[in-house]
Amino acid sequence: MSSIPAGYRVVELTADDWAEVEALDRWAAPEAADTVPDTPDGLPWERMTGFRDDKGRLAAVATAYDLAAFTLPGAQARTPGFTCMSVHPQDRRRGLLRAMMGLHFERALARGEALSVLTASETGIYGRFGYAVASWNYALTLPRHSPLAPPPGADREDLAVLIETVDPARHTPAVNHVLAGAAWSGGLTRPGWTPRTEAWTKRRLSHLDDQPADGYEPRRIMLVQRQAEPMAYAVFARNGHFSCHGGSASKVRLDETAALDAAASHLLWSRLLDLDLTSVVEAPLLAPNDPLFGLTLDLRGARAELHDGLWLRLLDVGRALAQRQYAADVDLVIELTDDHLPANQGRWRLRAKAFADGTEVSRSGAGADLACDVRALAAAYLGGASLAALAAAGQVVELVPGSLARASAAFAWPVPAGCNWIF
Ligand SMILES: CC(C)(COP(=O)(O)OP(=O)(O)OC[C@H]1O[C@@H](n2cnc3c(N)ncnc32)[C@H](O)[C@@H]1OP(=O)(O)O)[C@@H](O)C(=O)NCCC(=O)NCCS
Repeated sequence: MSSIPAGYRVVELTADDWAEVEALDRWAAPEAADTVPDTPDGLPWERMTGFRDDKGRLAAVATAYDLAAFTLPGAQARTPGFTCMSVHPQDRRRGLLRAMMGLHFERALARGEALSVLTASETGIYGRFGYAVASWNYALTLPRHSPLAPPPGADREDLAVLIETVDPARHTPAVNHVLAGAAWSGGLTRPGWTPRTEAWTKRRLSHLDDQPADGYEPRRIMLVQRQAEPMAYAVFARNGHFSCHGGSASKVRLDETAALDAAASHLLWSRLLDLDLTSVVEAPLLAPNDPLFGLTLDLRGARAELHDGLWLRLLDVGRALAQRQYAADVDLVIELTDDHLPANQGRWRLRAKAFADGTEVSRSGAGADLACDVRALAAAYLGGASLAALAAAGQVVELVPGSLARASAAFAWPVPAGCNWIF
């Protein structure tokens, strides 16, 4: 499937190759990318692939995180998170990324994985490989003291706040407890959410700690607990900045945050919005309809920017469609095109009951109700885009009247798709 550009060979890499991999990464991303850990044990070596030129020089690497419980509508499934794509500037545009992508697809399919996800440094790259934006993030900037609506239970006194310097070993269990719980909301899954293993969160917190951003203090953590149970957290840092008028204009910048209920979320945000000598809080990774939007009373006082979140690729369409749940009963045939993975092309019949397992997906010889490319299906897969909206943009064609409305209702999901970290 994947063709190797002339003059290069594929090599497997191990932690012994760390110095070379790190040097290559610094070439590819000169600003010391946030996503690449500072230590060799921070990288998923078991999925690391590289290309060397005929002199043995490392020219390209890529790997994938093993997202063992990646969250789908109504399910969780092992999914690779493609990452760390780095090609030396001297070797770019010779097809090395294309070759690494081909290997990634082959290996993920061989492992029985139906999807691949990534977060993109540049948005022009991944559509050609069949990925589409499957979740969206708001970056929200809130002025200090933005008023919040207290939800029921906000006045209870059983919640306590701890504010400490991040200590990866000590804080990892609390962070993971909240992350795992936040994959669910009101008994429904939160699509796109990634719980992490203990080792992985520990590495990530250490990595953030090792990389203070310009002018920012070391990473701090704010933890909300109910009778010692972690209920919400935010990893953040403040910069020291005084305006020309003598007042403080420091920012509070969040790396990640999650909460298990509305009262904990309210207390967390109330404290973040009331840190002395700060003027704004920047929260870069909020899903559309994040509870903070419901808590904030003066949304016009906030500034919101919409960004692409997760990019998703359906590798094995039959398995991918069968492994999620649907929000309405559905029985329809979709005619699919897929330039890169022809096994996905053709007509697929999807039969599902609302909010239930047991979805049936099969090849079909019947006439199709809808036609689209695999990218449109990827955009709708987590419920992040509606099939009707994609049809309005010409990306889905309704062949049988009425089928678009039924399909749109089924592919939607009540909890908006989000992405809790950038990798
Ligand atoms: C982005 C990067 C990985 C691309 O690697 P590459 O080996 O040059 O890519 P390829 O030669 O395989 O290109 C494959 C296709 O992607 C296109 N492409 C590559 N980089 C692109 C970019 N930044 N923007 C738009 N298109 C891009 C190529 O033009 C080519 O298009 P084609 O299919 O129409 O011929 C490499 O330039 C790099 O390491 N950049 C810096 C680090 C980075 O941004 N990594 C991505 C992390 S998400």
